Amino acid sequence: HPADPCTVVIFGAAGDLTSRLVVPALYNMRRTGLLSDNFAIVGFNHGKMSDNAWKNNLHKSLERYVSGAGQHLDEEAWGWLGSQMTYFPGDFDDASSFQALATKLKEIDRKRGTQGNVLFYLATPERFFGDVIEQLRDAGLTQDGGADSGHWRRVIIEKPFGHDLASANALNERILKVLREDQIYRIDHFLGKETVQNIMAFRFANGLFEPIWNRDRIDHVQITVAETVGVERRGSFYEQTGAMRDMVPNHLFQLLAMVAMEPPTSFDAEAVRTRKAEVIEAIRPISPEDAVRGQYGPGAVNSELARAYRDEPDVAPDSVTETFVAMKLSIDTWRWSGVPFYLRTGKHMGRRTTEIAIRFKSAPMAPFRGTGMDAFGPDWLVLQIQPDEGISLQFDVKRPGPRVELAPVRMDFKYADWFRAEPNVGYETLLYDCMTGDATLFQRADMVEACWRAVQPVLDDWAQRTPADFPNYASGSAGPASSDTLLAMGGRSWRPLNTGTEPARR
Ligand code: BG6
Repeated sequence: HPADPCTVVIFGAAGDLTSRLVVPALYNMRRTGLLSDNFAIVGFNHGKMSDNAWKNNLHKSLERYVSGAGQHLDEEAWGWLGSQMTYFPGDFDDASSFQALATKLKEIDRKRGTQGNVLFYLATPERFFGDVIEQLRDAGLTQDGGADSGHWRRVIIEKPFGHDLASANALNERILKVLREDQIYRIDHFLGKETVQNIMAFRFANGLFEPIWNRDRIDHVQITVAETVGVERRGSFYEQTGAMRDMVPNHLFQLLAMVAMEPPTSFDAEAVRTRKAEVIEAIRPISPEDAVRGQYGPGAVNSELARAYRDEPDVAPDSVTETFVAMKLSIDTWRWSGVPFYLRTGKHMGRRTTEIAIRFKSAPMAPFRGTGMDAFGPDWLVLQIQPDEGISLQFDVKRPGPRVELAPVRMDFKYADWFRAEPNVGYETLLYDCMTGDATLFQRADMVEACWRAVQPVLDDWAQRTPADFPNYASGSAGPASSDTLLAMGGRSWRPLNTGTEPARR
């Protein structure tokens, strides 16, 4: 079913996000029939540029994306998309630009039959979010037919949503004076990933796991988002942000919420979001002793020499920005009381992997007396988010042979064995949902605030203390030693980064 007719206005149309993700996603949506035929794109950006110059830039980067995915550009789909595109020069703080935009949108609406529906996509730096939304109001562009009827006006807001609890509160307050909550779509692109959406299906469509999904059977949970990339050309953004703000109160907490939430009573957006908000609110504010930070030094990633963070472009030579963070969380709910959740994420690590690993409690005793086998390995359920998308269950069996000896084995489900996925950049579902008014996969105001609230004590503590040991991990490693100590204190250890879903045979 194609989405509603609409115009998408992209603020920050000449930026990286637009060319790398938003436009490729719209192209994929056209190819798979998800866009209405009554459709238009307006690229709002400061500075004059011809329609053609804008489209040529987008075409080039789309070609790069398509060939990177081992495919050919579908010229027909691109041709169609290109013919719906208009570049619109304007300034985010200039009222007359927005008046002119209003006129332009009326004209497009008449020509394309988009029924007054407009999706405003804020692909701009965070500091412009509030301004742009107020300008839209002043130009009469945020008025729609109400929550349930008539034409709609919706706004997608990129992350980061604020840089701490106070700024997130302030931003919510400011935009909620202009828009209804149901017009606001705070995006977290991790929720666009199939493997993340699948967590709810996996948990709530199967009777098998839910009975053991709690403190009775689970020892602890490890959530790892390890990246091999460094900060690339984003040095000046990253210097202000750091690994904690960039990844934790958004992407990692979304993974955590999916794993830890209570079952919703329906798959209705509010039912799901309420359950997620509840579990995020139940995260005990993290004590600074339970969090460690790191910064990469030189080393080798994937056998290539890799430079230190402090040598990256636009990074201060004595920077104290963290590129790695690990922490221990407690969730104060009936289900999770006493079960630690360990989270870690970093750049320039030894292997790219995003996984949620659930460690089950050991059997109550080992009935192997006299065999020398009085200990056995842990049972793990690993949700492999990316790459090698899949789910695997690791447990012990008897190694064939005359003696009683145990060996860990794995049962693996891999997406690639069962499904042929349409190529996608991960924004397709999110854009489609916004165009059809389904906010399930977007962040509500209370959720983003609860996320910041949990990490705020650590942010405050770090702001007061300069790390003395940066850089403290080699590029290509699994992070600083302090990250291992964090688990060792609880008698636990991180899963090695290289286990993934490769065969565990020994
Ligand atoms: C972004 C962060 O939100 O997510 C980046 O700003 C990070 O620093 C990226 O690399 C990771 O996303 P993905 O989809 O590549 O895992």
